[in-house]
Order: sequence, then structure tokens, then C-alpha cells
Amino acid sequence: MRRKLAAGNWKMNGTAADLTEVKALIAANPTPTVDLLLCPPATLLSRMSDITKDSAIATGGQDCHMNGKGAHTGDISAAMLKDAGATYVILGHSERRADHGETDAIVHAKSEAAISGGLIAVICIGETLDERESGATLGVVETQLSGSVPATATAANTVIAYEPVWAIGTGKIPTLEQIAEVHAHIRTLLVTRFGEEGQGMRVLYGGSVKPSNATEIFAVEDVDGALVGGASLKAADFGPIITALENA
Ligand code: PGA
Repeated sequence: MRRKLAAGNWKMNGTAADLTEVKALIAANPTPTVDLLLCPPATLLSRMSDITKDSAIATGGQDCHMNGKGAHTGDISAAMLKDAGATYVILGHSERRADHGETDAIVHAKSEAAISGGLIAVICIGETLDERESGATLGVVETQLSGSVPATATAANTVIAYEPVWAIGTGKIPTLEQIAEVHAHIRTLLVTRFGEEGQGMRVLYGGSVKPSNATEIFAVEDVDGALVGGASLKAADFGPIITALENA
């Protein structure tokens, strides 16, 4: 049985004032039956981790460098994220692939660094609209998965997030059949490569998950939770998504 995970990606949103949302989320979910994760901007990670440390909410980074330390201005290592209280890190998000030129090889190296640094890597993959419309989705996902996920990945240290690029922040989501098709494909690929460990790796759906569509998405086979952007910023939105996952 894979334990479900509701993960929030705050992206470049949030200052100290927004930590009240985290307190509200903890108060509303004292004993959740699913795993909970919030990934704030790096500037808030340590303060958020102080607030969540006695709660069921884990914290994570949104990226880490592939090296442990050194002359990399502006970058953060896996060890630094861990030192700030993180247990997870999101890697290869499509915004980083697009804005920072992150290739599968880079995501692979970062994922290796995160895993060897003791973090759980949430590795993101997903097709663009052009790729979807040209029928390339399954092939794109397969290439990204094999190129980005390192050999050291296990059920305990790796989570896959399937996020169609065209569904992120747009309010559009694939049909439930399309979500089911991609998740089944990812599961087959993971099991083929990693055997039993691949069976245990969680595969999240991400892209415009909202309280209004969470129940139907979580009912799709092989969906083990969600990576949520916009709707993770407010406890009033993320709370119902958590409840929907608990009830799935
Ligand atoms: P969204 O973002 O929920 O705002 O669409 C999801 C993500 O990018 O992880």
C-alpha cells in the first residue's frame, strides 16, 4: 500500500505573514491519515519548519544544487535544505526546466544529490501542450522518467509528480482518462525498472488541482496524491484537498 501524499508548492509566493496559513492548516489537520508536505520559498523554509516540527506536516525545498557546496552563487545544497528542516525537495519542476534550462541530465544529478543527502526527491515530469496535441505524451514522459530518475531511487526516497505543463496554473486539467493513462504508464515503467521498489513509489498528479476537482482526480487509479501550486497557499483551499485525499 502506498501512503498518499498531499504536497504544496508555494513557488515564489509567501513572506513571514503567510505563515499564519501554516498554523491554520496544522490546527485543522491535527492527525491526518495522509502525508502532508509544504515547499515554501527558501527564505521561509527554516521558519516554516520551526512551526511544523511537532505537526504532521513535512517541509521541503523547491530545488537544490547537484553539488554539496562551493562557488555557486544563489544556489542551495541538499545539506542546506536539510539543515533548514526540510525532508523533501521538488526537482525538475517544469518552471525550472523552462526558466533555468534544466535538462533531464541536470535533474538526474540533482536527484542523486538530494537522495544521497537524505532528502526525498519529488521528481517532476510532464508534457507541453504541443506534445499532448501531437500524441507524444507517453513517449515524452518515458524519456523524462528514464533520464531524470537516478538508479538510487527507492520507494522511500523518491516521489514522481506527473504535471502536464499546460495544466499548471491554467485551470485546465486533462480528462480523467488521460490522467489514468499516463499514471498507468508511469507505474509500468517504474515497475519495469525498479521492480518491487517501483511498485511502492508514489506518483502524484499536479496541475490546477483545486477543492472542486480534487475528489474526481483522487478517484483515478494509480493517483497517489497531488502536487498543488496555487491552491496550497491558503489553508481554506488546501484543507479541502487534503480531506478529499483522505476520503479517496
Ligand atoms: P498549480 O501548480 O496547482 O498552481 O497549477 C501546480 C504545480 O506547478 O506544481
